[in-house]
Amino acid sequence: MKLRHFVSISDLSSKEIVKVLDLADKLKRELKTKGKNKKILDGKTLVMIYEKPSLRTRLSFEIGMTQLGGHAIYLGPTDISMGKRESVTDIAKVTSRMADIIMARTFSHKIVEELAKNSSVPVINGLSDMEHPCQILADLMTIREVKKKLKGLNISYVGDCENNVVHSFALACQILEMKFKCAAPKGYEMNKKILAKSKAIQLTDPIKAVKNADVVITDTWISMGDEAEKEKRLKIFKPYQVNKKLMKEAKNNAIFLHCLPAYRGNEVTSEIIDGNKSFVFQEAENRLHAQKALIIFLLNARFRK
Ligand code: CP
Ligand code: NVA
Repeated sequence: MKLRHFVSISDLSSKEIVKVLDLADKLKRELKTKGKNKKILDGKTLVMIYEKPSLRTRLSFEIGMTQLGGHAIYLGPTDISMGKRESVTDIAKVTSRMADIIMARTFSHKIVEELAKNSSVPVINGLSDMEHPCQILADLMTIREVKKKLKGLNISYVGDCENNVVHSFALACQILEMKFKCAAPKGYEMNKKILAKSKAIQLTDPIKAVKNADVVITDTWISMGDEAEKEKRLKIFKPYQVNKKLMKEAKNNAIFLHCLPAYRGNEVTSEIIDGNKSFVFQEAENRLHAQKALIIFLLNARFRK
């Protein structure tokens, strides 16, 4: 069985993303109609390594493993002190001799890459400073549920573009033939390599970025690790707030997404995030279904064919 990791959303082809999303839909339906899923991960263990806090990622991975008959182990920042008490390489080698699959939430993207390079089992990126690919699977699932398609849709993002969610979304749009436009103040642009690879359109004007959008997305202006710049960022990003006025630039039936946690009054007004265009809680729930499908995909080579 060929070892596959999910460090970047680009680790999956368009066909594979659709396969994972189809399975996610099926698992969600099964859970809603029968109250449970088949225990297809009986005896399997997921080890989760966290350098940062989490609500959704931890809940969805842990509950997902339980629902599929497997087990998840949480290792928090002080449990293994990655890179301090023990090298990342040794942690990957030891963990993958016991666990069936690993998820890591790290500060540096290089750490999750290093874990993958030295692991004999699949490694999933549960958010790094560069990408948040699991979030984007859930977002794509949500968009497909609401819009009934993905191809050709206009996806617009405003706010901090030097951001994990933006990077994974822009790459996903390129893979799935969706159009991605984003707007950020100068100095907070996307990673240059990802910008080039994704062929995303990056602007500074939020109004231009949102024009004609099917989906409007934002994220916190202060990602984990950026806390020292909080005051500066709150001022610089003010014109990039998603509010009623900005949403009017999008299509009439546009929807709003946010990976959460959200800071109402900063990147989005409560009128929008708590209004009828917002699908953020369906999006949060879909983390559970999408990641269960991803784990099955990574563990089961036959399913990949
Ligand atoms: N959206 C997301 O990843 O949430 P958590 O940081 O709470 O896991
Ligand atoms: N961009 C945010 C996402 C949180 C889920 C962060 O990295 O903190």
